[in-house]
Amino acid sequence: MAEIDIVALPGDGVGPEVTDAMISVLTAVSHRYGHSFTVRSHDIGWAAFERHGTVLPDETLAAARTGPAVFLGAVGDPRAEGLSPSLRPESALLRLRSELGCFANLRPARVDAALAALSPLRPDLAAGCDLLIVRELTGGLYYGTPRHSDGVTAVNTLRYTDMEVERIARVAFDAARARRSHVTSIDKANVLEVSQLWREVVTRVSSDYPDVTLAHMLVDRAAMEMVMNPSQFDVILTTNMFGDILSDEASALTGSVGLLASASVGGSVGIYEPVHGPDPDLASKGVANPIGAIRTGALMLSHSFALHGEAAAIEEAIQRVLARGLRTRDIAAGGPSVGTTAFAAAVTEKLT
Ligand code: IPM
Ligand code: MG
Repeated sequence: MAEIDIVALPGDGVGPEVTDAMISVLTAVSHRYGHSFTVRSHDIGWAAFERHGTVLPDETLAAARTGPAVFLGAVGDPRAEGLSPSLRPESALLRLRSELGCFANLRPARVDAALAALSPLRPDLAAGCDLLIVRELTGGLYYGTPRHSDGVTAVNTLRYTDMEVERIARVAFDAARARRSHVTSIDKANVLEVSQLWREVVTRVSSDYPDVTLAHMLVDRAAMEMVMNPSQFDVILTTNMFGDILSDEASALTGSVGLLASASVGGSVGIYEPVHGPDPDLASKGVANPIGAIRTGALMLSHSFALHGEAAAIEEAIQRVLARGLRTRDIAAGGPSVGTTAFAAAVTEKLT
């Protein structure tokens, strides 16, 4: 019996709804397998700003530090539009990732057979889409200094050290060993010194992984290849900024961003985030797709609690519900759909 004790930060927009859905499924899994499951919820993002005057209250950060796993629903609100980046709800998440040392963001993207028709790709291309993006998460353009703006000139800095590149490269090569043993490292080495260093270090690390093949690809080319020939990718290793962009592209290939999960690891505490954002237009309507959040819960069980069987059981239950034809609005292709809670209840029912 395991003690599953997590910190939940529901946040903004659809965040609270999908967090509830994830909690309902993990509660059921815990009962089924005889684990105890405790959730401590705290405020973050715009929701926290409204209640406490800050997007990341000290008590939220303190709770998150106790770990071992933090689930984050979503952050962001249209009312923050135009505020300086350091005041926006998103800054809470960026600070959390950095404070907890979560330098490796893992974003799996696979086209579900049951949903292949939703992919904007031709069926023969969609069928082969099964990749894992390993995105560096606490460095690069997001965090480099100096950074400032005087309203006429604005500066952000792209900086990586060899140590930062090496540790994320090792995460990618290790992940590839559990998959199809291929890493594509994506950079802009024809223009940027940082990318040249990135390429050198990744090549050096690869010599410790003779069983894993490595390809380097320029980011503009990669954006194109991802839609022309996605099956060539197994593990994609890339920087914070490129990974942010390419992971949205990859999510689109699966048919809905609402399907995808992510894990941010590398520190003593893991942060688990569905890839979709707050989606304010859908918020409070009870129609958001909970699959991304439920899969994120499964990643959390697997990475932070080593409960791999339980994580697999959740994925199987999702597949059974999809096979039965149940759909949320984003994946209904105009047909009948159910709400967030009903979908999560169906997943719970299909757990074996
Ligand atoms: C993501 C998001 C975040 C990012 C935002 C909300 C700060 O787009 O997780 O991909 O850019 O990392
Ligand atoms: Mg993003």
